[in-house]
Amino acid sequence: SERTLVLLKPDAVRRGLIGEITGRIESKSDWAVTALELRTLDRSTLEQHYAEHVGKPFYEPLVEFMASGPSVVMVVEGERVIEGVRALAGPTDPIAAPPGSIRGDFGTIVRENLIHASDSEESAARELKIFFPDFS
Ligand code: GTP
Ligand code: MG
Repeated sequence: SERTLVLLKPDAVRRGLIGEITGRIESKSDWAVTALELRTLDRSTLEQHYAEHVGKPFYEPLVEFMASGPSVVMVVEGERVIEGVRALAGPTDPIAAPPGSIRGDFGTIVRENLIHASDSEESAARELKIFFPDFS
């Protein structure tokens, strides 16, 4: 089965949505949370994580926001979990995200869109190494 990196971003933690969002993930059959930690992300971690966005206009405010308070950092394992958590999250822009998706139900602001989930097997492998270097 697959493994993916999920972040509940600082807006989700500040708004008390850890249980609500984690519950949706945990409720899916054959999925399991196999690592979970509350962690305030530092700039160097975020620079690695968001390397593909360096230089874009939203990059600096994004990194600032992501470092603004604790996130929940977790590993989720299971059947088609990479595609699956992305589907639960919905599109990047919460206003475009359908009701029933996490971003569609709880978000309005593109930057503060509650959740990150790896977007491919390659991204998952890369990101899991950044956030859980000792995890095997
Ligand atoms: P992640 O799961 O967080 O990686 O989101 P994503 O894959 O849906 O989006 P992407 O990787 O393209 O962008 C990373 C994050 O940057 C997004 O989740 C948003 O928080 C933010 N972001 C992306 N595009 C924009 C934008 O056009 N404007 C602003 N303000 N933020 C953006
Ligand atoms: Mg992304």
